[in-house]
Amino acid sequence: MADLTADLGFIKLKNPVIPASGTFGYGGEFLQFFDLDLLGAFVMKGVYTDERGGNEPPRIWETPSGLLNSIGLAGPGAEGLTKIIKDVASKTSTPIIVNVCGGTDEEYLEVARILDVMKEVAMLELNISCPNVRAGGSCPAQSSSDTRRVVKLVKENTEKPLIVKLSPNVSDISSIARSAEEAGADAISVVNTFLGLALDIEKRKPVFKNFFAGLSGPAIKPLALKIVWEVANAVSIPVIGIGGIMTGRDVLEFILAGAAAVQTGTVNIVEPTGSVRIISETLELMDELKINNLEEIRGGLKI
Ligand code: SIN
Repeated sequence: MADLTADLGFIKLKNPVIPASGTFGYGGEFLQFFDLDLLGAFVMKGVYTDERGGNEPPRIWETPSGLLNSIGLAGPGAEGLTKIIKDVASKTSTPIIVNVCGGTDEEYLEVARILDVMKEVAMLELNISCPNVRAGGSCPAQSSSDTRRVVKLVKENTEKPLIVKLSPNVSDISSIARSAEEAGADAISVVNTFLGLALDIEKRKPVFKNFFAGLSGPAIKPLALKIVWEVANAVSIPVIGIGGIMTGRDVLEFILAGAAAVQTGTVNIVEPTGSVRIISETLELMDELKINNLEEIRGGLKI
């Protein structure tokens, strides 16, 4: 049987499948469906220092092969999350990643510091790419200099491995990824959602109060694969691929494009046991294609 372990350098995961932030609650919600120990890791929904109610409804909208969301990073705040983390960590040994948000550099640092001292947290994912909280979808990941500054600040003041989640809504993602790497990022996760617009023809208005929203799901898979390939060729730290992964075949495509592991998103919303199915499918396909381990094909695209 194939070896499914995924090597991120600073940690080896039992498999490459990691449910993504915002699609998996805080993990505990999924215990009614499966044992969290089956996952490679999972990412908890992003938090700020304080509790946030998020954006006004509607917050999600189905599109052909996709999902638009405008949640607005609702959450219990970092201190509130620490209790949830302790509870969930007592029910699983799977590494927990927490998605760290901030309205300012200081807030990113404060949230990261609160989580940094928790032994239950394996890694931090710096969310500098949410399209739903600032005007026009702007975020630090849209500029190399903002990315470099925030990543450096958090990295220099925390001990946990730092994954930096980047935005696809930029013209040159490779240079932004390089800035994150130079500032000390241990891994890059790509991509957050693509900015999209849903319209209500009867009301002649945008569906979302925030105007734009973030598109995920199979509709973005080819776009995400392209970015994973570009970023994996631009940096030497591990890349975690995200974007419309629904099957084991999708996982292997992202690994072939250069990802060391993947995050599953929309699938967790439409099929709560989807990530576990994807893990089994990946193993089955590796056996069928006689792939012994993920490193054998990682970034091995023949061109
Ligand atoms: C949201 O909460 O609006 C989505 C989070 C994100 O895209 O980072």
